[in-house]
Amino acid sequence: MRILTGAIAAALITTTGAFADPVDDNLVINGETEIVTRTAAPAHVSDALDEVMSGWLFRKDGTRAMQADDFDNPGMIFVEQAMDTWETAEGSEGKSCSSCHNDMDSMAGVKATYPKYSEAAGKVVTLQMQMNDCRTERMGAEAWKYDKSDAINMEAALSSVSRGMPVNVAIDGPAQSTWEKGKELYYTRTGQLELSCANCHEDSYGMMIRADHLSQGQINGFPVYRLKNTKLNGVHSRFKGCVRDTRAETYAPGSDEFVALELYVASRGNGLSVEGPSIRN
Ligand code: HEC
Ligand code: HEC
Repeated sequence: MRILTGAIAAALITTTGAFADPVDDNLVINGETEIVTRTAAPAHVSDALDEVMSGWLFRKDGTRAMQADDFDNPGMIFVEQAMDTWETAEGSEGKSCSSCHNDMDSMAGVKATYPKYSEAAGKVVTLQMQMNDCRTERMGAEAWKYDKSDAINMEAALSSVSRGMPVNVAIDGPAQSTWEKGKELYYTRTGQLELSCANCHEDSYGMMIRADHLSQGQINGFPVYRLKNTKLNGVHSRFKGCVRDTRAETYAPGSDEFVALELYVASRGNGLSVEGPSIRN
């Protein structure tokens, strides 16, 4: 059922019924890191989807090609900046990230498990929240602004060392109530258009919407370098844009609602490879 309900929703789709399959293509980064861009849906979404697919499969040839080589991937410039930040002492304790964590490579695999429940915080936290906890509680430094340059660059660096590893966020145990809240948000219709995330990204992926090829809205590729704004974009900023497109009031990046939604959306991509920083329109 890849049909949007509602007259206004129909108007959003440029050519009624225009549908294009995702491409049949494989992503191998730098000729060595194989990326799983489509795989069987995890059990908790198998009633809605057979397969889960990375947004990479819905992009044009040139955009996809940029991601296959780090020299062509503009997102990697920001990763390099973050690698420098990793080594830079800041704050009252005179420490850098590397003082405690050694090489960035020691973080391989971490990105694949976030958002996750933190005992210390007593709630599900995102990678950016965890980094900021290290900054404020362990370095005596100021928190980075959510989804802004330093935070998103560091998230991209942490992602880059996990590329090729399967997304594997926990949805049970202490994370379960947050996951359920995220699921509810995903299926709730919002705004004047009365559209939920699922109306577009589950019922209608493959459709053309305003000249854009609608994907499943997966987040395994985040942070994403967008050709549209030529910078790295965070998950919550993307959610904000999509909610706004339904002409609804939106939540703020870093809000409890977006943390829950991030956990839920991440879990829909369990099994896809960590791919960020990726390139999208
Ligand atoms: C003074 C030591 C210290 C410094 C400096 C520090 N961290 Fe941490 N970091 C820790 C400890 C300890 C943990 C484990 C915390 C926990 O499990 O609750 C941690 C956890 C993390 C995690 C989560 C790891 C996981 O397996 O879930 C990330 C990501 C992280 N730090 C990033 C950073 C970044 C980025 C910086 C620099 C901006 C930084 N840290 C600076 C001590 C430090
Ligand atoms: C009116 C249809 C519509 C709705 C509703 C919508 N989106 Fe989107 N979304 C889009 C379009 C169009 C794009 C850009 C093309 C693409 O990547 O699918 C997009 C892109 C995304 C992406 C980027 C995917 C990538 O690979 O870079 C994510 C993540 C996303 N949406 C999540 C959501 C979430 C979560 C919701 C609900 C809060 C939502 N969207 C609601 C239309 C929608």
